[in-house]
Amino acid sequence: MDSLVQARGLAAMPLDADARPALRLLTCGSVDDGKSTLIGRLLYEQNLIYDDHLAALQRDSRKHGTNGAEIDFALLLDGLEAEREQGITIDVAYRYFSTRNRSFIVADTPGHEQYTRNMATGASNSELAVLLVDARKGLLGQTRRHAIIASLLGIRHAVLAVNKIDLVDFDRAVFDEIAAKFREFAAELNFANIVAIPISARFGDNVSTRSGRTPWYAGPSLLDHLETVDVEEDRGGKPFRMPVQWVNRPNSDFRGFAGTVVGGSVQPGDEIVALPSGRTSKVVRIVSPGGDLALAQAKDAVTLTLADEIDIARGDVLAALRERPQVTDQFAAQLVWMSSHALQPGRSYLMKIGARTTMATVTELRHRVDVDTLAKLAAKTLALNEVGVCNIATATQVVFDGYAENRDTGSFILIDRYSNETVAAGMISFALRRATNVHLQSLAVGKQERSALMHHRPAVLWFTGLSGAGKSTIANLVEAGLHARGVHTIMLDGDNVRHGLNKDLGFTETDRVENIRRIGEVAKLMTEAGLIVLCSFISPFRAERQMVRELLEDGEFLEVFVDTPLDQCIARDPKGLYRRALSGEIKNFTGVDQAYEAPERPELRLMAGEQKPEVLANRVIDELVRRDICVKH
Ligand code: ADX
Repeated sequence: MDSLVQARGLAAMPLDADARPALRLLTCGSVDDGKSTLIGRLLYEQNLIYDDHLAALQRDSRKHGTNGAEIDFALLLDGLEAEREQGITIDVAYRYFSTRNRSFIVADTPGHEQYTRNMATGASNSELAVLLVDARKGLLGQTRRHAIIASLLGIRHAVLAVNKIDLVDFDRAVFDEIAAKFREFAAELNFANIVAIPISARFGDNVSTRSGRTPWYAGPSLLDHLETVDVEEDRGGKPFRMPVQWVNRPNSDFRGFAGTVVGGSVQPGDEIVALPSGRTSKVVRIVSPGGDLALAQAKDAVTLTLADEIDIARGDVLAALRERPQVTDQFAAQLVWMSSHALQPGRSYLMKIGARTTMATVTELRHRVDVDTLAKLAAKTLALNEVGVCNIATATQVVFDGYAENRDTGSFILIDRYSNETVAAGMISFALRRATNVHLQSLAVGKQERSALMHHRPAVLWFTGLSGAGKSTIANLVEAGLHARGVHTIMLDGDNVRHGLNKDLGFTETDRVENIRRIGEVAKLMTEAGLIVLCSFISPFRAERQMVRELLEDGEFLEVFVDTPLDQCIARDPKGLYRRALSGEIKNFTGVDQAYEAPERPELRLMAGEQKPEVLANRVIDELVRRDICVKH
C-alpha cells in the first residue's frame, strides 16, 4: 500500500511545483496522537491517493476502522506498520508528496519506545519537526523528549500540532494553554521558530485549509505553513565540502574524484584543499553522467578533476581552500545510543564519518543528557535510546565541521566491530586539542636493545577463562618454569591488580573494559622492557582481548584459553564466590549473571578440566619455544 502512495506522490509532482528542494520534515508523536491519520489526511486532501486505493480504504475503514462510516486514514499507513513488525533495523519510513507549491519528504518515526534511535535516523536530515500532541492530554513527557531530541539533532523549525481539537470542543483555552506551556519549555531549545496549530487530523480542521470551527485561530493551516516556511537560510552559505567516495581512474589520461557534495558549491577554477593531507589544487572539470557542469552544489553526485596530480584517497575530504574544515583525532560529541548493548567507554568501535571509516574509542563520557528535562547526569555508560556528551579519540585523523555548521560533515555513526550493528549516531561539537603539546619521545634504547640483553623476545601470554578455571595456577607454573630457564618475566593477575592499579574498579561491564584497557597498556610497557608478561584475567569480552592484541606487535600476543566447563568451576569454587553469586549475594559474576565470550581462535586452548596444570604449563612453554620467543633448555 505504502509504495503506491509513495509512487503516486512522486508521479503526481505538478509541473508548476516550485524549484526549491523538497522540504524535509519529521513527524513525531506518541502512538495514539494521530500521526498516521494526519499524514493520510494530507495525502487525501491533496488528491494523492488513487481512486481504487481510496475505494479499498473506504471498504477497510468500514471493516476495521475506528471512525464508523468515515475513512480511517490511519489504515492507509497500516501496511507499513506490518512491515515494521518484521524487525527492520532502522525504523524510519520516508514518504514523498508534492503540492502545487512545494514538494515534501516526510520521515515518519513510530512512537514506540525505540523512538530516540528512530528519530535520530529520521531527523538527521530533516529541517522541520511536526510534534503531535493530543489536545485532551496536553504535553506529555514524550512530547518534551521528542522536542529535545529534534533540537539536539539540529532541527531549527518546530510545529506543535495540537490534534483532536474537536474532542475538546474547539476550545481556545485548551489550545492556548498547551501552546504556552510548550513555548515556555522550548525556550531553552534551539528552535528558530515554533508555530502551534490547532488541528483535527480526523476531520481535517486546519490541516490543508483554515477551519471555520476555530474562528479564534488566526494562524496558517498546517499545509500553508509547510508550503511557506523558509528554511533556505539553514541551507545556503556553507563552504564547499565533498568526501571522496572513490578515485576514478579508467586510464592514465583521466583521474577524477567521485563523491557527493555535502556543503556549499564548487565551480571549475575554484581552489580546493584535500584533507587531511592539506595538499591544494584547482578544480578543472565537474563531470556528471549528463555531461560537464558549470557548478555543483549540495546533494549533487559528481566527479571532479584537478589541475595537479596530488595524492588523494577514498575517504579524504575536498574542501574550499579558504574555509577549511577541522582535522583532529580527538573531539567532543553528542551520542545517541541505538543499541541494546550499552556503550563501553574504552572499547574500540568502527566510526564512519563521510566516506572514511576508522577506529574510535569513547575516552570519557562527560555526562548523560536527561531527555525529559535536559539535565546533565553523571553516567558511566549509555543504554539504548540514551543521549550523552563524550570525548572521542580516533585511530586516524578525521576531517569534520561542527554539527551546527554542517550536519553531513559533523555527524558520524559508530559500529560494533563484531556484530556489525550500528550502535550510535554522533554529532561533533568541537575538536579537543589537549594532547597536541605532548609528543612521543624517541628513545635511544628500545625494545630490541633491551630484549637483546635478555636472550629472548618479549611477549604477552594472555590467560583468559572463567573464575576458578585454573588460569592463575597454570600461569604460576609457567612463570616458575620460565624463570628456571633464565627468562625475565612479570605476572599480572586479576586479584592482585585489583588491589593496586585498578582498585577503583568493580565488575560491571564498563569497569571490566577499563580493567583490561589499563592492563593492556601496562603489559605493552612491560614488553617494551623486554619481558615476557603473564596476564591472568577473566577478561570476558572478545573486544577487549582484541584491543590488547592490537596494542602489541604481530606475534607478541598469545591468547591462552583456559577452557574449564562452568559446572567444574562451580564444583571447584576455590574462593567460595560461585556459591555467593548463585545465591544472588554477588552481582555481575562471570558465567552466572554476566556473559563470558569464549575466544574464537586462541593461540592455545587448555582443557584444564581434563589435564593436570603441570602438563598444560609445559605446553605453554613449548609453544613459546616453537615460536622462537625463548629457547629450549
Ligand atoms: S575481569 O573480568 O575484569 O578480567 P579479573 O580477572 O580482573 O576480572 O578479576 C576476577 C577476580 O575477581 C575473580 O577471580 C574473583 O576472584 C574476583 N571477583 C569478585 N567479584 C567478581 C565478579 N562479580 N565476577 C568475576 N570475578 C569476581
